[in-house]
Amino acid sequence: MSATKRPRIGILTAGGDCPGINAAIRGVGKTAILEHGMEVVGISTGFLGLINQEYTILDENQLSGILTVGGTILGTSRENPFKKTNSFLSVDKPRLIKKHYKEMGLDALVCIGGNGTMRTAAHLAEEGLNVIGIPKTIDNDVWGTDVTFGFDSALWIATDAIDRLHTTANSHKRIMVIEVMGHHAGWLALYSGIAGGGDVILLPEIEFDIDIVAKCLKRRAINKKPYSIVVVAEGIPIKKGESAARYIGEAIKNKTGLETRETILGYIQRGGSPSPMDRVLATRFGAAAVELIASENYGQMVSLRGNQISSIPLSEVGGKLRLVPLDLPLIHKTRKMGVCFGDEPD
Ligand code: F6P
Repeated sequence: MSATKRPRIGILTAGGDCPGINAAIRGVGKTAILEHGMEVVGISTGFLGLINQEYTILDENQLSGILTVGGTILGTSRENPFKKTNSFLSVDKPRLIKKHYKEMGLDALVCIGGNGTMRTAAHLAEEGLNVIGIPKTIDNDVWGTDVTFGFDSALWIATDAIDRLHTTANSHKRIMVIEVMGHHAGWLALYSGIAGGGDVILLPEIEFDIDIVAKCLKRRAINKKPYSIVVVAEGIPIKKGESAARYIGEAIKNKTGLETRETILGYIQRGGSPSPMDRVLATRFGAAAVELIASENYGQMVSLRGNQISSIPLSEVGGKLRLVPLDLPLIHKTRKMGVCFGDEPD
């Protein structure tokens, strides 16, 4: 970085939105401006903003009041500039991004996103840009960090929903099936299933047998349990295009004859104000990203290890998924407490 010009950091947010992104933007901005005298530029709509050179200067006014606001003030997209297209009209997006990065006078670029965004960030780092990744997603499936912000907020939302399903299930003596997000990972289903007192929890990582699920529910009915709660991750292996909750709900009805209803939580899990834990984690990640820039330690993703902020090379993160380990002690203990995961435990 040159000694005279104030260093200028670009921030973009990409992929599925989640609570906490604005807290991370604020953490980057306040640390950069107040502690390091840097300039901050907000890039619109993920990597599209770099391709189209759409950005605004972020100063303390823009950063004020956004800590508690859900979503992202910059907007987001799932644009992947490295995705190959056959169209003869396709432009060389990585070349455009490098050109605009220079024309915008950027000294570094902070990419806030999930595993797809970290993969793009890793490619841009290989192309010579000074890139730092900040992991966010309600799925909690980014490799290299124990937790992503967005997860705790979605966990609160899903758990509150499951709590509410207990009361209506009890009134009608029904089986209630609730589908939670998580993409290919089962973290949100596992944690909300435990927090919400689920009797059956189905994860993408554990191959389930619907007959085992039916047997468990029938046994609960025989033992005079008035109702059951079945928490299902959206990513369980079923026919493409079908909803996990509908598939499991239909199968339960057909195999047990028990009255069953389904709820798909969907995008509610990504909305609203971030939880306090997500606000703090996002703020910590934002500050850590600027420290990496100040020490010119580029090509890194900030991470949380235990309760320590750390970082990991983007080259080790890009495109990997952090799935629920089958030997997770929490799963073992939960089984011992009578929760069914749809399989025969070892
Ligand atoms: O990655 C977050 C997430 O909400 C996943 O849990 C979900 O499967 C996906 O995004 C939905 O993607 P979109 O917002 O593009 O519909």
